[in-house]
Amino acid sequence: LTIESTYQCNLTMSFSRPTVIFGGSGFLGHALMARLAQQGRIIRVPTRNMDKARSLKISGYGGQIVPFLNAPCSDASVAHAVANADTVINLIGVLNESRGNFYQNIHVEIPARIARIAKQQGVKNFIHVSFLGANNRAKSKLARSKAAGEKAVLAFFPEATIFRPSIIFGPQDRLFNRLAARARFLPAFPVIGGGQTRFQPVYVGDVAQAIIMALQKPNKAQGKVFELGGPDILSVREILQTLFRETKHPRPLVNIPLELAKALAPILGLLPNPLLTADLLNLLAEDNIVCDTTALTFRDLGLTPTPVKQILPTYLYGPPDLEEQGTVD
Ligand SMILES: NC(=O)c1ccc[n+]([C@@H]2O[C@H](COP(=O)([O-])OP(=O)(O)OC[C@H]3O[C@@H](n4cnc5c(N)ncnc54)[C@H](OP(=O)(O)O)[C@@H]3O)[C@@H](O)[C@H]2O)c1
Repeated sequence: LTIESTYQCNLTMSFSRPTVIFGGSGFLGHALMARLAQQGRIIRVPTRNMDKARSLKISGYGGQIVPFLNAPCSDASVAHAVANADTVINLIGVLNESRGNFYQNIHVEIPARIARIAKQQGVKNFIHVSFLGANNRAKSKLARSKAAGEKAVLAFFPEATIFRPSIIFGPQDRLFNRLAARARFLPAFPVIGGGQTRFQPVYVGDVAQAIIMALQKPNKAQGKVFELGGPDILSVREILQTLFRETKHPRPLVNIPLELAKALAPILGLLPNPLLTADLLNLLAEDNIVCDTTALTFRDLGLTPTPVKQILPTYLYGPPDLEEQGTVD
């Protein structure tokens, strides 16, 4: 029995072999799911948390999207998940390390295992989502682990397509929603080291569409690296000012010297879902903008990324307390 045979309905699908999305229960996975479903794919979503993944099912017809309990922690579990698959997409990633969840495992060993087994099983397309700052010389451990993950994936699956998005925004994001939730109760907003580091926020729908285009045009995408940045290059300070403008809820910005932030980070890093850790300080020390001249971009997929100001008003006035409702982690 295949995983989805228990669920399958009598739909005529254009794809006879399933698409498997590891990490599909998350923010980007939710944005991607409906687009993949519209292509007529049968989609498997291995997840450690069925509650998080169940809502994905409404993006497709009955039986088209199949979340199932599976952790990619052994060759056998990955082989079970990718059996007979045509396409594998890896969206597994974390912003912060936590007890038992280390970058080396999540960003390097798990992607390597998935790529190796996908190749052995004859998977045709492999998409791996990395991070714009991925670089083996980066200050941040997260960015270095993402670089090592790319290398590991390509070692086993040289035709894989790698996407490196900058920080992703959109409904349910962790960027603007989380900052807005904090700004609501803070009398002033802290910015570290002047807040001059630049990001290129990219709309989640554009990242999802880039993945769709890469699958539609494999000859343009296989074995290639795409750096995905939005049209706006914004410093941390400008991101906050954009947020305050949109929420009509301005807060004075208070500069926190880098040395003080470094002293606070180890303590704040112990909180659940910490806003500041020692490694996030390292991330904030380097611009996160499209700069690899050998990498391709949205343009090479025929896409034009969406400006922040076009999307932000559609969700920033969402449910008042997103954090309490558990939609932001
Ligand atoms: N969000 C951003 O701003 C951003 C920016 C650049 C790059 N990225 C990258 O884009 C990808 C998707 O990001 P996202 O924002 O959608 O992340 P997300 O919402 O946090 O979802 C990530 C998924 O990773 C899975 N996961 C986490 N730890 C795991 C572990 N130990 N074992 C197995 N699965 C694990 C989770 O799946 P289950 O809990 O269902 O098992 C979760 O659904 C990630 O690789 C991320 O690094 C994100």
